[in-house]
Amino acid sequence: MRDDGTTDGAAALELQAARALRDAFGDGGDAATAWAPGRCTLLGEHVDYASGIVLCIAIQLGVAVAMRASPKHVFRAQSAGLRAVRAEPGPAADIGDRIFAVALALRRAGVGLPPYDVGVAASLPSGAGLASSAAIVCAVIVAALRLGRARLAAAGVVDAALFAERDVVGVPCGAMDQRTIVDAPPGGALLLDCRDDSASSVAWPWSDVVLVACSTGEQHDVGGTAYRDRRQETDGALSRLQVASAQDVTDDVLRRGGLSPVQSRRARHVATETQRALRGADAMRAGDAARLGALMTESHRSLRDDHEVSTPALDAVVEAALRVRGCLGARMVGAGFGGTVVALVDRGAAHACAAAMRSAAASARGTWVLRPSPGLAHIAADVIGSG
Ligand code: GLA
Repeated sequence: MRDDGTTDGAAALELQAARALRDAFGDGGDAATAWAPGRCTLLGEHVDYASGIVLCIAIQLGVAVAMRASPKHVFRAQSAGLRAVRAEPGPAADIGDRIFAVALALRRAGVGLPPYDVGVAASLPSGAGLASSAAIVCAVIVAALRLGRARLAAAGVVDAALFAERDVVGVPCGAMDQRTIVDAPPGGALLLDCRDDSASSVAWPWSDVVLVACSTGEQHDVGGTAYRDRRQETDGALSRLQVASAQDVTDDVLRRGGLSPVQSRRARHVATETQRALRGADAMRAGDAARLGALMTESHRSLRDDHEVSTPALDAVVEAALRVRGCLGARMVGAGFGGTVVALVDRGAAHACAAAMRSAAASARGTWVLRPSPGLAHIAADVIGSG
């Protein structure tokens, strides 16, 4: 059974996607719809590809799609005023890439699909560090399973989404976005060990502490070269240290030396950030909001100084949030080089914090109070899971 009641306007967004589909490509057969949440990292940024540990929530902002077999027997997509049309599903560097990559990913998983038309509607800002790329892929997978009356286990959905992103579109991402979108628990965070793929749930313990997000309007690009560079530099540092995971980078290992200054900074980021994710989960279990906030601010400083993925605009928004009384901590979210800042704030200070963040970002795209959303394994149980 689907549980639209727990997600903000998901059902309304699915109707909008169905309208976008009809407006773009006319009538033609029944459409299946689906909605997938975005992701907000609490701690554990830029460590998933280094087998580190991440602490993330799925959020109530998401992406809806409507999908039908194409009466014209071609692949067509319409999203935010942009259109993509082609005979084959392979990438062409346009908005269709991720949407059509699902055809190849599901074929590999044994689910054949005819050429399809897709309409998209989103409450999640795109290219803002809140995993809009993974959300659209996951939403298309769920819609495709509904259309084809097929089922996949949660792990199969994650595998298909990762294949679409990494092998078809070619972005060397880690697994945290897809895992969070599929496996996030209701009302809490997912603590994910990216070395052995194990995960546990951590409840959001506060009613009087909220997450306020501000999308700075500076677009980030997870497919861009800067993300690939960070990944390569980190891989290089770990292999030089002869360890396979950020979890093995202890102070002793770091003292072994042999790293370039850049590699030292990358190694220090993934090691300390992994520890922060674990300590952040402990802070949530203990209901210690001040502690979680302090860890988030430390995370931002590490992303700024050691991993070098922040920007002056993100830094300015973080500092503006931290100046607000009642703000417990703030950090950039996602791949960086632009995107969104999230602050942990006493509920009574949420408006003041949002206003301060907005006025520090020259071209802010929006501010939101983020709430945990259940992942797709919970809200799309009609097509995900073994039963
Ligand atoms: C993007 C990638 C993720 C992760 C984050 C940074 O969202 O898709 O795999 O690496 O950046 O934490």
